[in-house]
Amino acid sequence: MHYFQYRGDELYCEDVPVRTIAEDVGTPCYVYSCATLCRHFTVFDEAFKQVPHLTCYSVKANSNVAILKLFGSMGAGVDIVSGGELYRARLAGIPPERIVYSGVGKTVGEIDYALAEDILMFNIESIQELETIDRRASEAGKKARIALRVNPDIDPKTHPYISTGMKKSKFGISMDNAIKTYEKAKNLQNIEITGIDCHIGSQLTELTPFVDALKRLRVIISRLADMGIEIRYLDLGGGLGIPYDQESPPHPHDYAEAVIRELDDLPCTLIFEPGRVIVGNAGILATRVLYIKHGPSKDFVITDAAMNDLVRPSLYGSYHYIQPVAKKARETKVVDVVGPICESGDFLARDRGLPMPARNEYLAVMSAGAYGFSMSSNYNSRPRAAEVLVQGDRYFVIRRRETHEDLVKLETIPEFLQGAGPACG
Ligand code: LLP
Repeated sequence: MHYFQYRGDELYCEDVPVRTIAEDVGTPCYVYSCATLCRHFTVFDEAFKQVPHLTCYSVKANSNVAILKLFGSMGAGVDIVSGGELYRARLAGIPPERIVYSGVGKTVGEIDYALAEDILMFNIESIQELETIDRRASEAGKKARIALRVNPDIDPKTHPYISTGMKKSKFGISMDNAIKTYEKAKNLQNIEITGIDCHIGSQLTELTPFVDALKRLRVIISRLADMGIEIRYLDLGGGLGIPYDQESPPHPHDYAEAVIRELDDLPCTLIFEPGRVIVGNAGILATRVLYIKHGPSKDFVITDAAMNDLVRPSLYGSYHYIQPVAKKARETKVVDVVGPICESGDFLARDRGLPMPARNEYLAVMSAGAYGFSMSSNYNSRPRAAEVLVQGDRYFVIRRRETHEDLVKLETIPEFLQGAGPACG
């Protein structure tokens, strides 16, 4: 069952025509299907039902509080990478014992916040971070539960910007240093070793890199056991890919089967940090065609959504399928779909065969639920888009469109600039 589909010639999200939302809420606008979000979470989580596990949805993929609340209600934990994400998670009612905290640059303020909330564990990415967390925990009179994020030096065979588990990457602690870092952690008064962690990259379309990473972690786990260090949580990160175009990533069931097989009888609770696989295909970006421009060598479809709304095509050359919200017979042309931003890199699609839309028509940029709104910005002083959650035949604005006032509300004009005359000289 697909929840974004045409009924007749109209694209629907569940039982609501996308056009209705676009007209009522305006564009650009993110539209998420609640049924798809629930289904994706359930499929992933249930794939591991035969082993003790915790599915910690990766907040960065889509951080809207309503969506966090939805997953929380289904028993999800979360993977966070900042104090801001911790704030969102707690606001959405995610219990602290279901929160894991990754990231190479946790600040003292963020560490203190996470200690005060008593989260499940910190995924440590460097010795200095480990020492800092020990000191802050001592200050707070607490013990910090930690896992080391090990960098298993595995090529995930994905885009270089989203590969994280190779030697040259900034993430994690190398295989060579892992044991001695654990040894150090063991001797720190305010550290409680609870787990081991890795995250090798995102949008993986093969199982082998996951299995290879797990094999390497298992080697470390058994060496730690010899040292009397017990690993209770084995966090395998996120990274499972989704079909954007022609990819055929493994189904969560196959992923689970491969992991569970490799796990053997290891007495650990598994943690997963899936982001994209849960939300990616549960959302679209609805946009309106502003103009069609026939250039000397190319035709351009100029939309009201731009790289500030969805940066993935500009940043990674990512493919997002684009289709009309109202289907009708028309000629297909090869065009660039571009936004209004003053950058040549501002495009949603390049050299794309598209059924030619007319001015003011709505288009749906598909598979935009992950790293869409969460990576959006105000560049060119463009208010960020609205976000809408559809549930059956109802829809809810879960983030209103920003206004011009929102754009400047944090800015102040210092007194010396407030007079009428020239401020310089
Ligand atoms: N855990 C950690 C520690 C991560 O760094 C990430 C993603 C995840 C989990 C979730 O990975 P996922 O299941 O979504 O693949 N902006 C890029 C993706 C960056 C991923 C960053 N880390 C994109 O738009 O493709």
